[in-house]
Amino acid sequence: MNVTYKNLVNVSFEELHKTFVDAFSDYAVDVSYMTHYVMENRAIKNGYDPESSVGAFNDSKLVGFTLVGIDNHYETPSAFDIMTGLVKDYRGKGIASQMFDFIIPSLKEKKIKQFYLEVLQENNAAIRAYQKAGFKINRSLDCFTLDIKKLKITEQLRIPLSFKNLDKSIIDYFETFADWTPSWENSFSAIKRIPDDVLIIEAEYSINKVGLIVYYPTLNWIMAFLVDPKYRKIGVGSALIKKLIDEINGSVDIIKFLNIQSEDEDLINFLKASGFELMTGQYEMTYKLS
Ligand SMILES: CC(C)(COP(=O)(O)OP(=O)(O)OC[C@H]1O[C@@H](n2cnc3c(N)ncnc32)[C@H](O)[C@@H]1OP(=O)(O)O)[C@@H](O)C(=O)NCCC(=O)NCCS
Repeated sequence: MNVTYKNLVNVSFEELHKTFVDAFSDYAVDVSYMTHYVMENRAIKNGYDPESSVGAFNDSKLVGFTLVGIDNHYETPSAFDIMTGLVKDYRGKGIASQMFDFIIPSLKEKKIKQFYLEVLQENNAAIRAYQKAGFKINRSLDCFTLDIKKLKITEQLRIPLSFKNLDKSIIDYFETFADWTPSWENSFSAIKRIPDDVLIIEAEYSINKVGLIVYYPTLNWIMAFLVDPKYRKIGVGSALIKKLIDEINGSVDIIKFLNIQSEDEDLINFLKASGFELMTGQYEMTYKLS
């Protein structure tokens, strides 16, 4: 086995996807939705930078990779491990560690200050590999699914609302409604980088913008769900979910809502009461580069 490391500047998504399918064939979560198209668009959404990313090659065959995204994440130059995977025969040989050893100096050269990733809480092998590379758990994130048939409207709307579809370029105002910082996958800059369709619905009360829901059909994820704190507990959230389900109009049976900060009891209780079910948990981990 003669493994070498190179950035991914000359590697196509077709090739990356072939290796992905192999590397994630025994993954704890079903990733069959991750076609070549979905993988590429998700990478673009996450700020994919082939030059900061790494491939592990056995002779010329790609046997593993870490895709890295770059962004000014909440005012700090940051990187994100979009996904790391190794084909089974190449695991447990220090290759993930060597991929990080390859990436980190080039991130430091680019004056990147923080390196983020998200990992399933049950993925002990990955958590250990990341901890060994220097990552620390930053926070716990809950991931939900909603079987649309099970949606329950818990709160009747107590103000007249109107809804408007928005373009992703004009959503900044709503960021102030958030009680905690969205994860990289769901950040407002990730939403703005989406290269294909995204459904954004704004709720208005008179002339006031009071809520927002963002749904990304390619991944079938709710990426943002925000109600102005001044207008909570009067049915705006329930109305936005209902409006989203109406607009999706039966195109899927189940939708996902990932990366809710585990301490956000109000949102989690609301989701459970509305029929969402906890699917899994993730950790956000960070590595301080300077
Ligand atoms: C997670 C993954 C990338 C780790 O890669 P790897 O090359 O096997 O990891 P390394 O050999 O570099 O190991 C680094 C450290 O991780 C830990 N580790 C790796 N595999 C482990 C396992 N199966 N069980 C426990 N710890 C493990 C060890 O502490 C190891 O340190 P050590 O060599 O000093 O014992 C690999 O298992 C993989 O591709 N899994 C499938 C895809 C996946 O889960 N990706 C992560 C989520 S996106």
